[in-house]
Amino acid sequence: MTQKGDPSGRRGGNEPLVVLRELLRNPRDIGALCPSSAALADEMARPFESFFWRDGYLVELGAGTGPVTEALLRMGVPPSRLIAVEKSAPLAYCLKNRFAGVHVLCCPAEELGSRLDGRGPVRAVVSSLPFRSLPAAVSVGIMREAERILAPGGLFVQFTYALLGEMPFVPRTFRKVRSKIILRNMPPAKVEVFRKPKAPIQTAG
Ligand SMILES: C[S@@+](CC[C@H](N)C(=O)[O-])C[C@H]1O[C@@H](n2cnc3c(N)ncnc32)[C@H](O)[C@@H]1O
Repeated sequence: MTQKGDPSGRRGGNEPLVVLRELLRNPRDIGALCPSSAALADEMARPFESFFWRDGYLVELGAGTGPVTEALLRMGVPPSRLIAVEKSAPLAYCLKNRFAGVHVLCCPAEELGSRLDGRGPVRAVVSSLPFRSLPAAVSVGIMREAERILAPGGLFVQFTYALLGEMPFVPRTFRKVRSKIILRNMPPAKVEVFRKPKAPIQTAG
């Protein structure tokens, strides 16, 4: 019998089938043929390896079935500091089942600001969103929201399958601090890390 309240309509544990169904239903939103490899997920999580979580949150956008979520936890991000955002209800259900203690928000990333319920500051945004396949207006809206919620000096991490050229939609004020190509992924991908500038220093007079 299907689990009560299971929006994926599955018998439990069959994540590849859930992903396949979501891919067929909404290919532009999924934007990938398979989940990120452990090598790619580790590179997305690398900036947080020795991060001291005195306060604040890390927001993950487009968490899917959770390969990057898993890597972030492995790198030491406390579950209580991790907010995973996923638009697809069946995938969000998988995340909730898989990661105890992680805050899972099932909503479009465009609406993120109004769903954080005052949680902050946001020290980092880690995104697997397929900006190249989403409609440009949606991508622009999401990036605007990410820039707005990110605390000054915060990190923005994104991967892309386009190995050449600049990452689209990243605010011009963000400074690129790291870029690495990961070959051990299907297809190979590039991970880029950006830093939002610190607030301008107020001068007297
Ligand atoms: C390329 S998959 C990445 C999944 C996973 N993080 C990984 O690395 O394998 C993109 C994910 O973003 C989700 N997504 C697409 N558009 C979204 C939106 N506007 N808001 C939130 N999630 C979205 C999709 O449902 C999908 O799970």
